[in-house]
Amino acid sequence: MKVALACDHGGYPLRERLLEVLAGCGAEVVDLGTFTPDPVDYPDYAEALGLAILQGRAERGVLVCGSGVGATVAANKLPGIRAGCCHDCFSAHQGVEDDDCNVLCLGARVIGPEAAADIVKIFLGAKFSGAERHRRRVGKVAILEEKY
Ligand code: RB5
Repeated sequence: MKVALACDHGGYPLRERLLEVLAGCGAEVVDLGTFTPDPVDYPDYAEALGLAILQGRAERGVLVCGSGVGATVAANKLPGIRAGCCHDCFSAHQGVEDDDCNVLCLGARVIGPEAAADIVKIFLGAKFSGAERHRRRVGKVAILEEKY
């Protein structure tokens, strides 16, 4: 699977571990930085990661900021991006199975590298169930994007 990875400076401390995890999962990584710990703006990284998915350069994304919150808010502004901030394993798989999440957001100031590693593996291993009720709900989310 092609997976985009992007972090702001708040997410940078998880970056190296996440690159290892993605390689270990056999992912083809689209590495969107940031490449130094210098301060940057998370919306720029959310946009780059979302575009990688919308343009078909990646199937899923992992987006990391300090809390995971700003990254989630920004990524969800791109129509077709369904980003969830998941700091537990249950949310990481259910967000894909039920909600067809294509972006996992993490907060490097909230969880440590090994919890993040497990969550990323679970996110990548999960598949959308395709159940009719979940298709209907995801479809209603898309209608909200168009409506507003
Ligand atoms: C950056 O200081 C920080 O605000 C950002 O990484 C993120 O936590 C925003 O939600």
